[in-house]
Amino acid sequence: MATFSHDVLIIGSGAAGLTVALKLPDTSDVAVLSKGKLNNASTWYAQGGVAAVLDKTDSLESHVKDTHIAGAGLCHDDAVRKTVENGPDAIRWLIDLGVDFTKLDEGDGGEFGYHLTREGGHSHRRIIHAADATGIAISRALIENIEHRKNVTLYEDRIAVDLIIDNSNGESRCIGAYVYNSETDTTDLFLAKFVVLAAGGASKVYLYTTNPDIATGDGIAMAWRAGCRVANMEFMQFHPTCLYHPKAKASLVTEAIRGEGGRLLLPDGQRFMHRFDERAELAPRDVVARAIDYEMKRLGADCLYLDISHRPADFIINHFPTVYAKCLQLGIDITKEPMPIVPAAHYTCGGVITDLNGQTDISGLYAIGETASTGLHGANRMASNSLLECFVFGEAASQHMAEQMSAIPMPTSAPEWDESLVTEAEEDVVIAHNWDELRRFMWDYVGIVRTTKRLERAWHRADMLKKEIAEYYSNYKISKDLLELRNLVVIAELIIRSAQARKESRGLHHILNFPDLLAETHDTVLSPADPLPEK
Ligand code: FUM
Repeated sequence: MATFSHDVLIIGSGAAGLTVALKLPDTSDVAVLSKGKLNNASTWYAQGGVAAVLDKTDSLESHVKDTHIAGAGLCHDDAVRKTVENGPDAIRWLIDLGVDFTKLDEGDGGEFGYHLTREGGHSHRRIIHAADATGIAISRALIENIEHRKNVTLYEDRIAVDLIIDNSNGESRCIGAYVYNSETDTTDLFLAKFVVLAAGGASKVYLYTTNPDIATGDGIAMAWRAGCRVANMEFMQFHPTCLYHPKAKASLVTEAIRGEGGRLLLPDGQRFMHRFDERAELAPRDVVARAIDYEMKRLGADCLYLDISHRPADFIINHFPTVYAKCLQLGIDITKEPMPIVPAAHYTCGGVITDLNGQTDISGLYAIGETASTGLHGANRMASNSLLECFVFGEAASQHMAEQMSAIPMPTSAPEWDESLVTEAEEDVVIAHNWDELRRFMWDYVGIVRTTKRLERAWHRADMLKKEIAEYYSNYKISKDLLELRNLVVIAELIIRSAQARKESRGLHHILNFPDLLAETHDTVLSPADPLPEK
């Protein structure tokens, strides 16, 4: 087992992780772990953009209000205000890093001179974007800048297995992590004064998702095993429009298409969103995803349609080159015809509970971005608020660590990684089968519309799989697939338990047995100190 020591160990290389790394002083020694290659984080796949108040006709108060409305009464006002108020500075920082946002055209936009688009729930144009490939533009700028930082070491093909917690000084402190190297098939020890979980969300727990394969909830599962509380895991966001094609992997169709006039259609070509919400196609995501799900079930349809073909062809091609090219590959010309869409799992609104500095329940351990529950998203994240959260909370966490850096001693040892009791796996089919089973029952029983019966069924299956996977993990050598599966079953359990605890329908949690909103509500907080009851 090799040992690596750094001041700060950042687990994850998307917007959250790279922001923390770039904002830390260059006197600190920083390690960034990437599960695959650096450009394979969820950020890379973000299409829409970053929400921020950049136009004179907009206001911080309006952004705050829209976020609260979308969050259905569960957003924490301090987290919302912190994020919104720091929005314009975060955008200036990105522009200074070299992010090539789309410039103003047609007279829309704001004082920054950039085009601002609209997305569901926003009462103003406030989404700054790089056509429909904002994630790529931001990731490239972050990666280019990080590669010039001499104090940052990048480790690719590394998946953290578990956090190391030291309880010897009267408090629990995170001092590092065991890390599996999927290139060499070895497990190493990383020691650090501070550990940052920036490992993204958990949408891979569902059969259909817009997320890349890395989104297996590793940060949330590790924090839970280490003793951190998690909040609001029932609020999994389903994006209303994911391209549907039997021959293609599910891929995102940006909400900005609806922001620029895109119309949702039934198979017979009729619009229907006005029957569900007066904001029609620009209602928040939970409303639109449920409406699509309802109409698909009512009609027995495999998909519905999104049509932007009434806008000029050059506008479509310039603003939505990614979606245009992807559809064209599949023989669909969106300048002339509608595209087939279905909803798919997209964003984990809950996560590891943090304060306004990104600090978790455990000293020295931070969670940033989709891994965290800061209180910003409440019961339903508003589109494009999440990238902003990465920049704002990433900066806050790095400042908080920098202030303590000289006072915290470097940990010098931890128990060795012990493989003496495990053997090579006999057959990988167990892992493949359990992956499929887990993701299918989560889709069927814990999806857009839930019932107590379906949740009960899901719970029994998750419980059985958890035991099977734990047994497998204790007998056989680890692999990337096994580690991800072990994390996903924790995530499934946390989502189901949280969904069972919420006796109302609110935001993204829609349950037929409890269709109404309760007058008094609160976050769903689960703690590892209170073991989940056996069913
Ligand atoms: O629709 C989109 O482009 C996605 C935006 C988001 O999830 O924030």
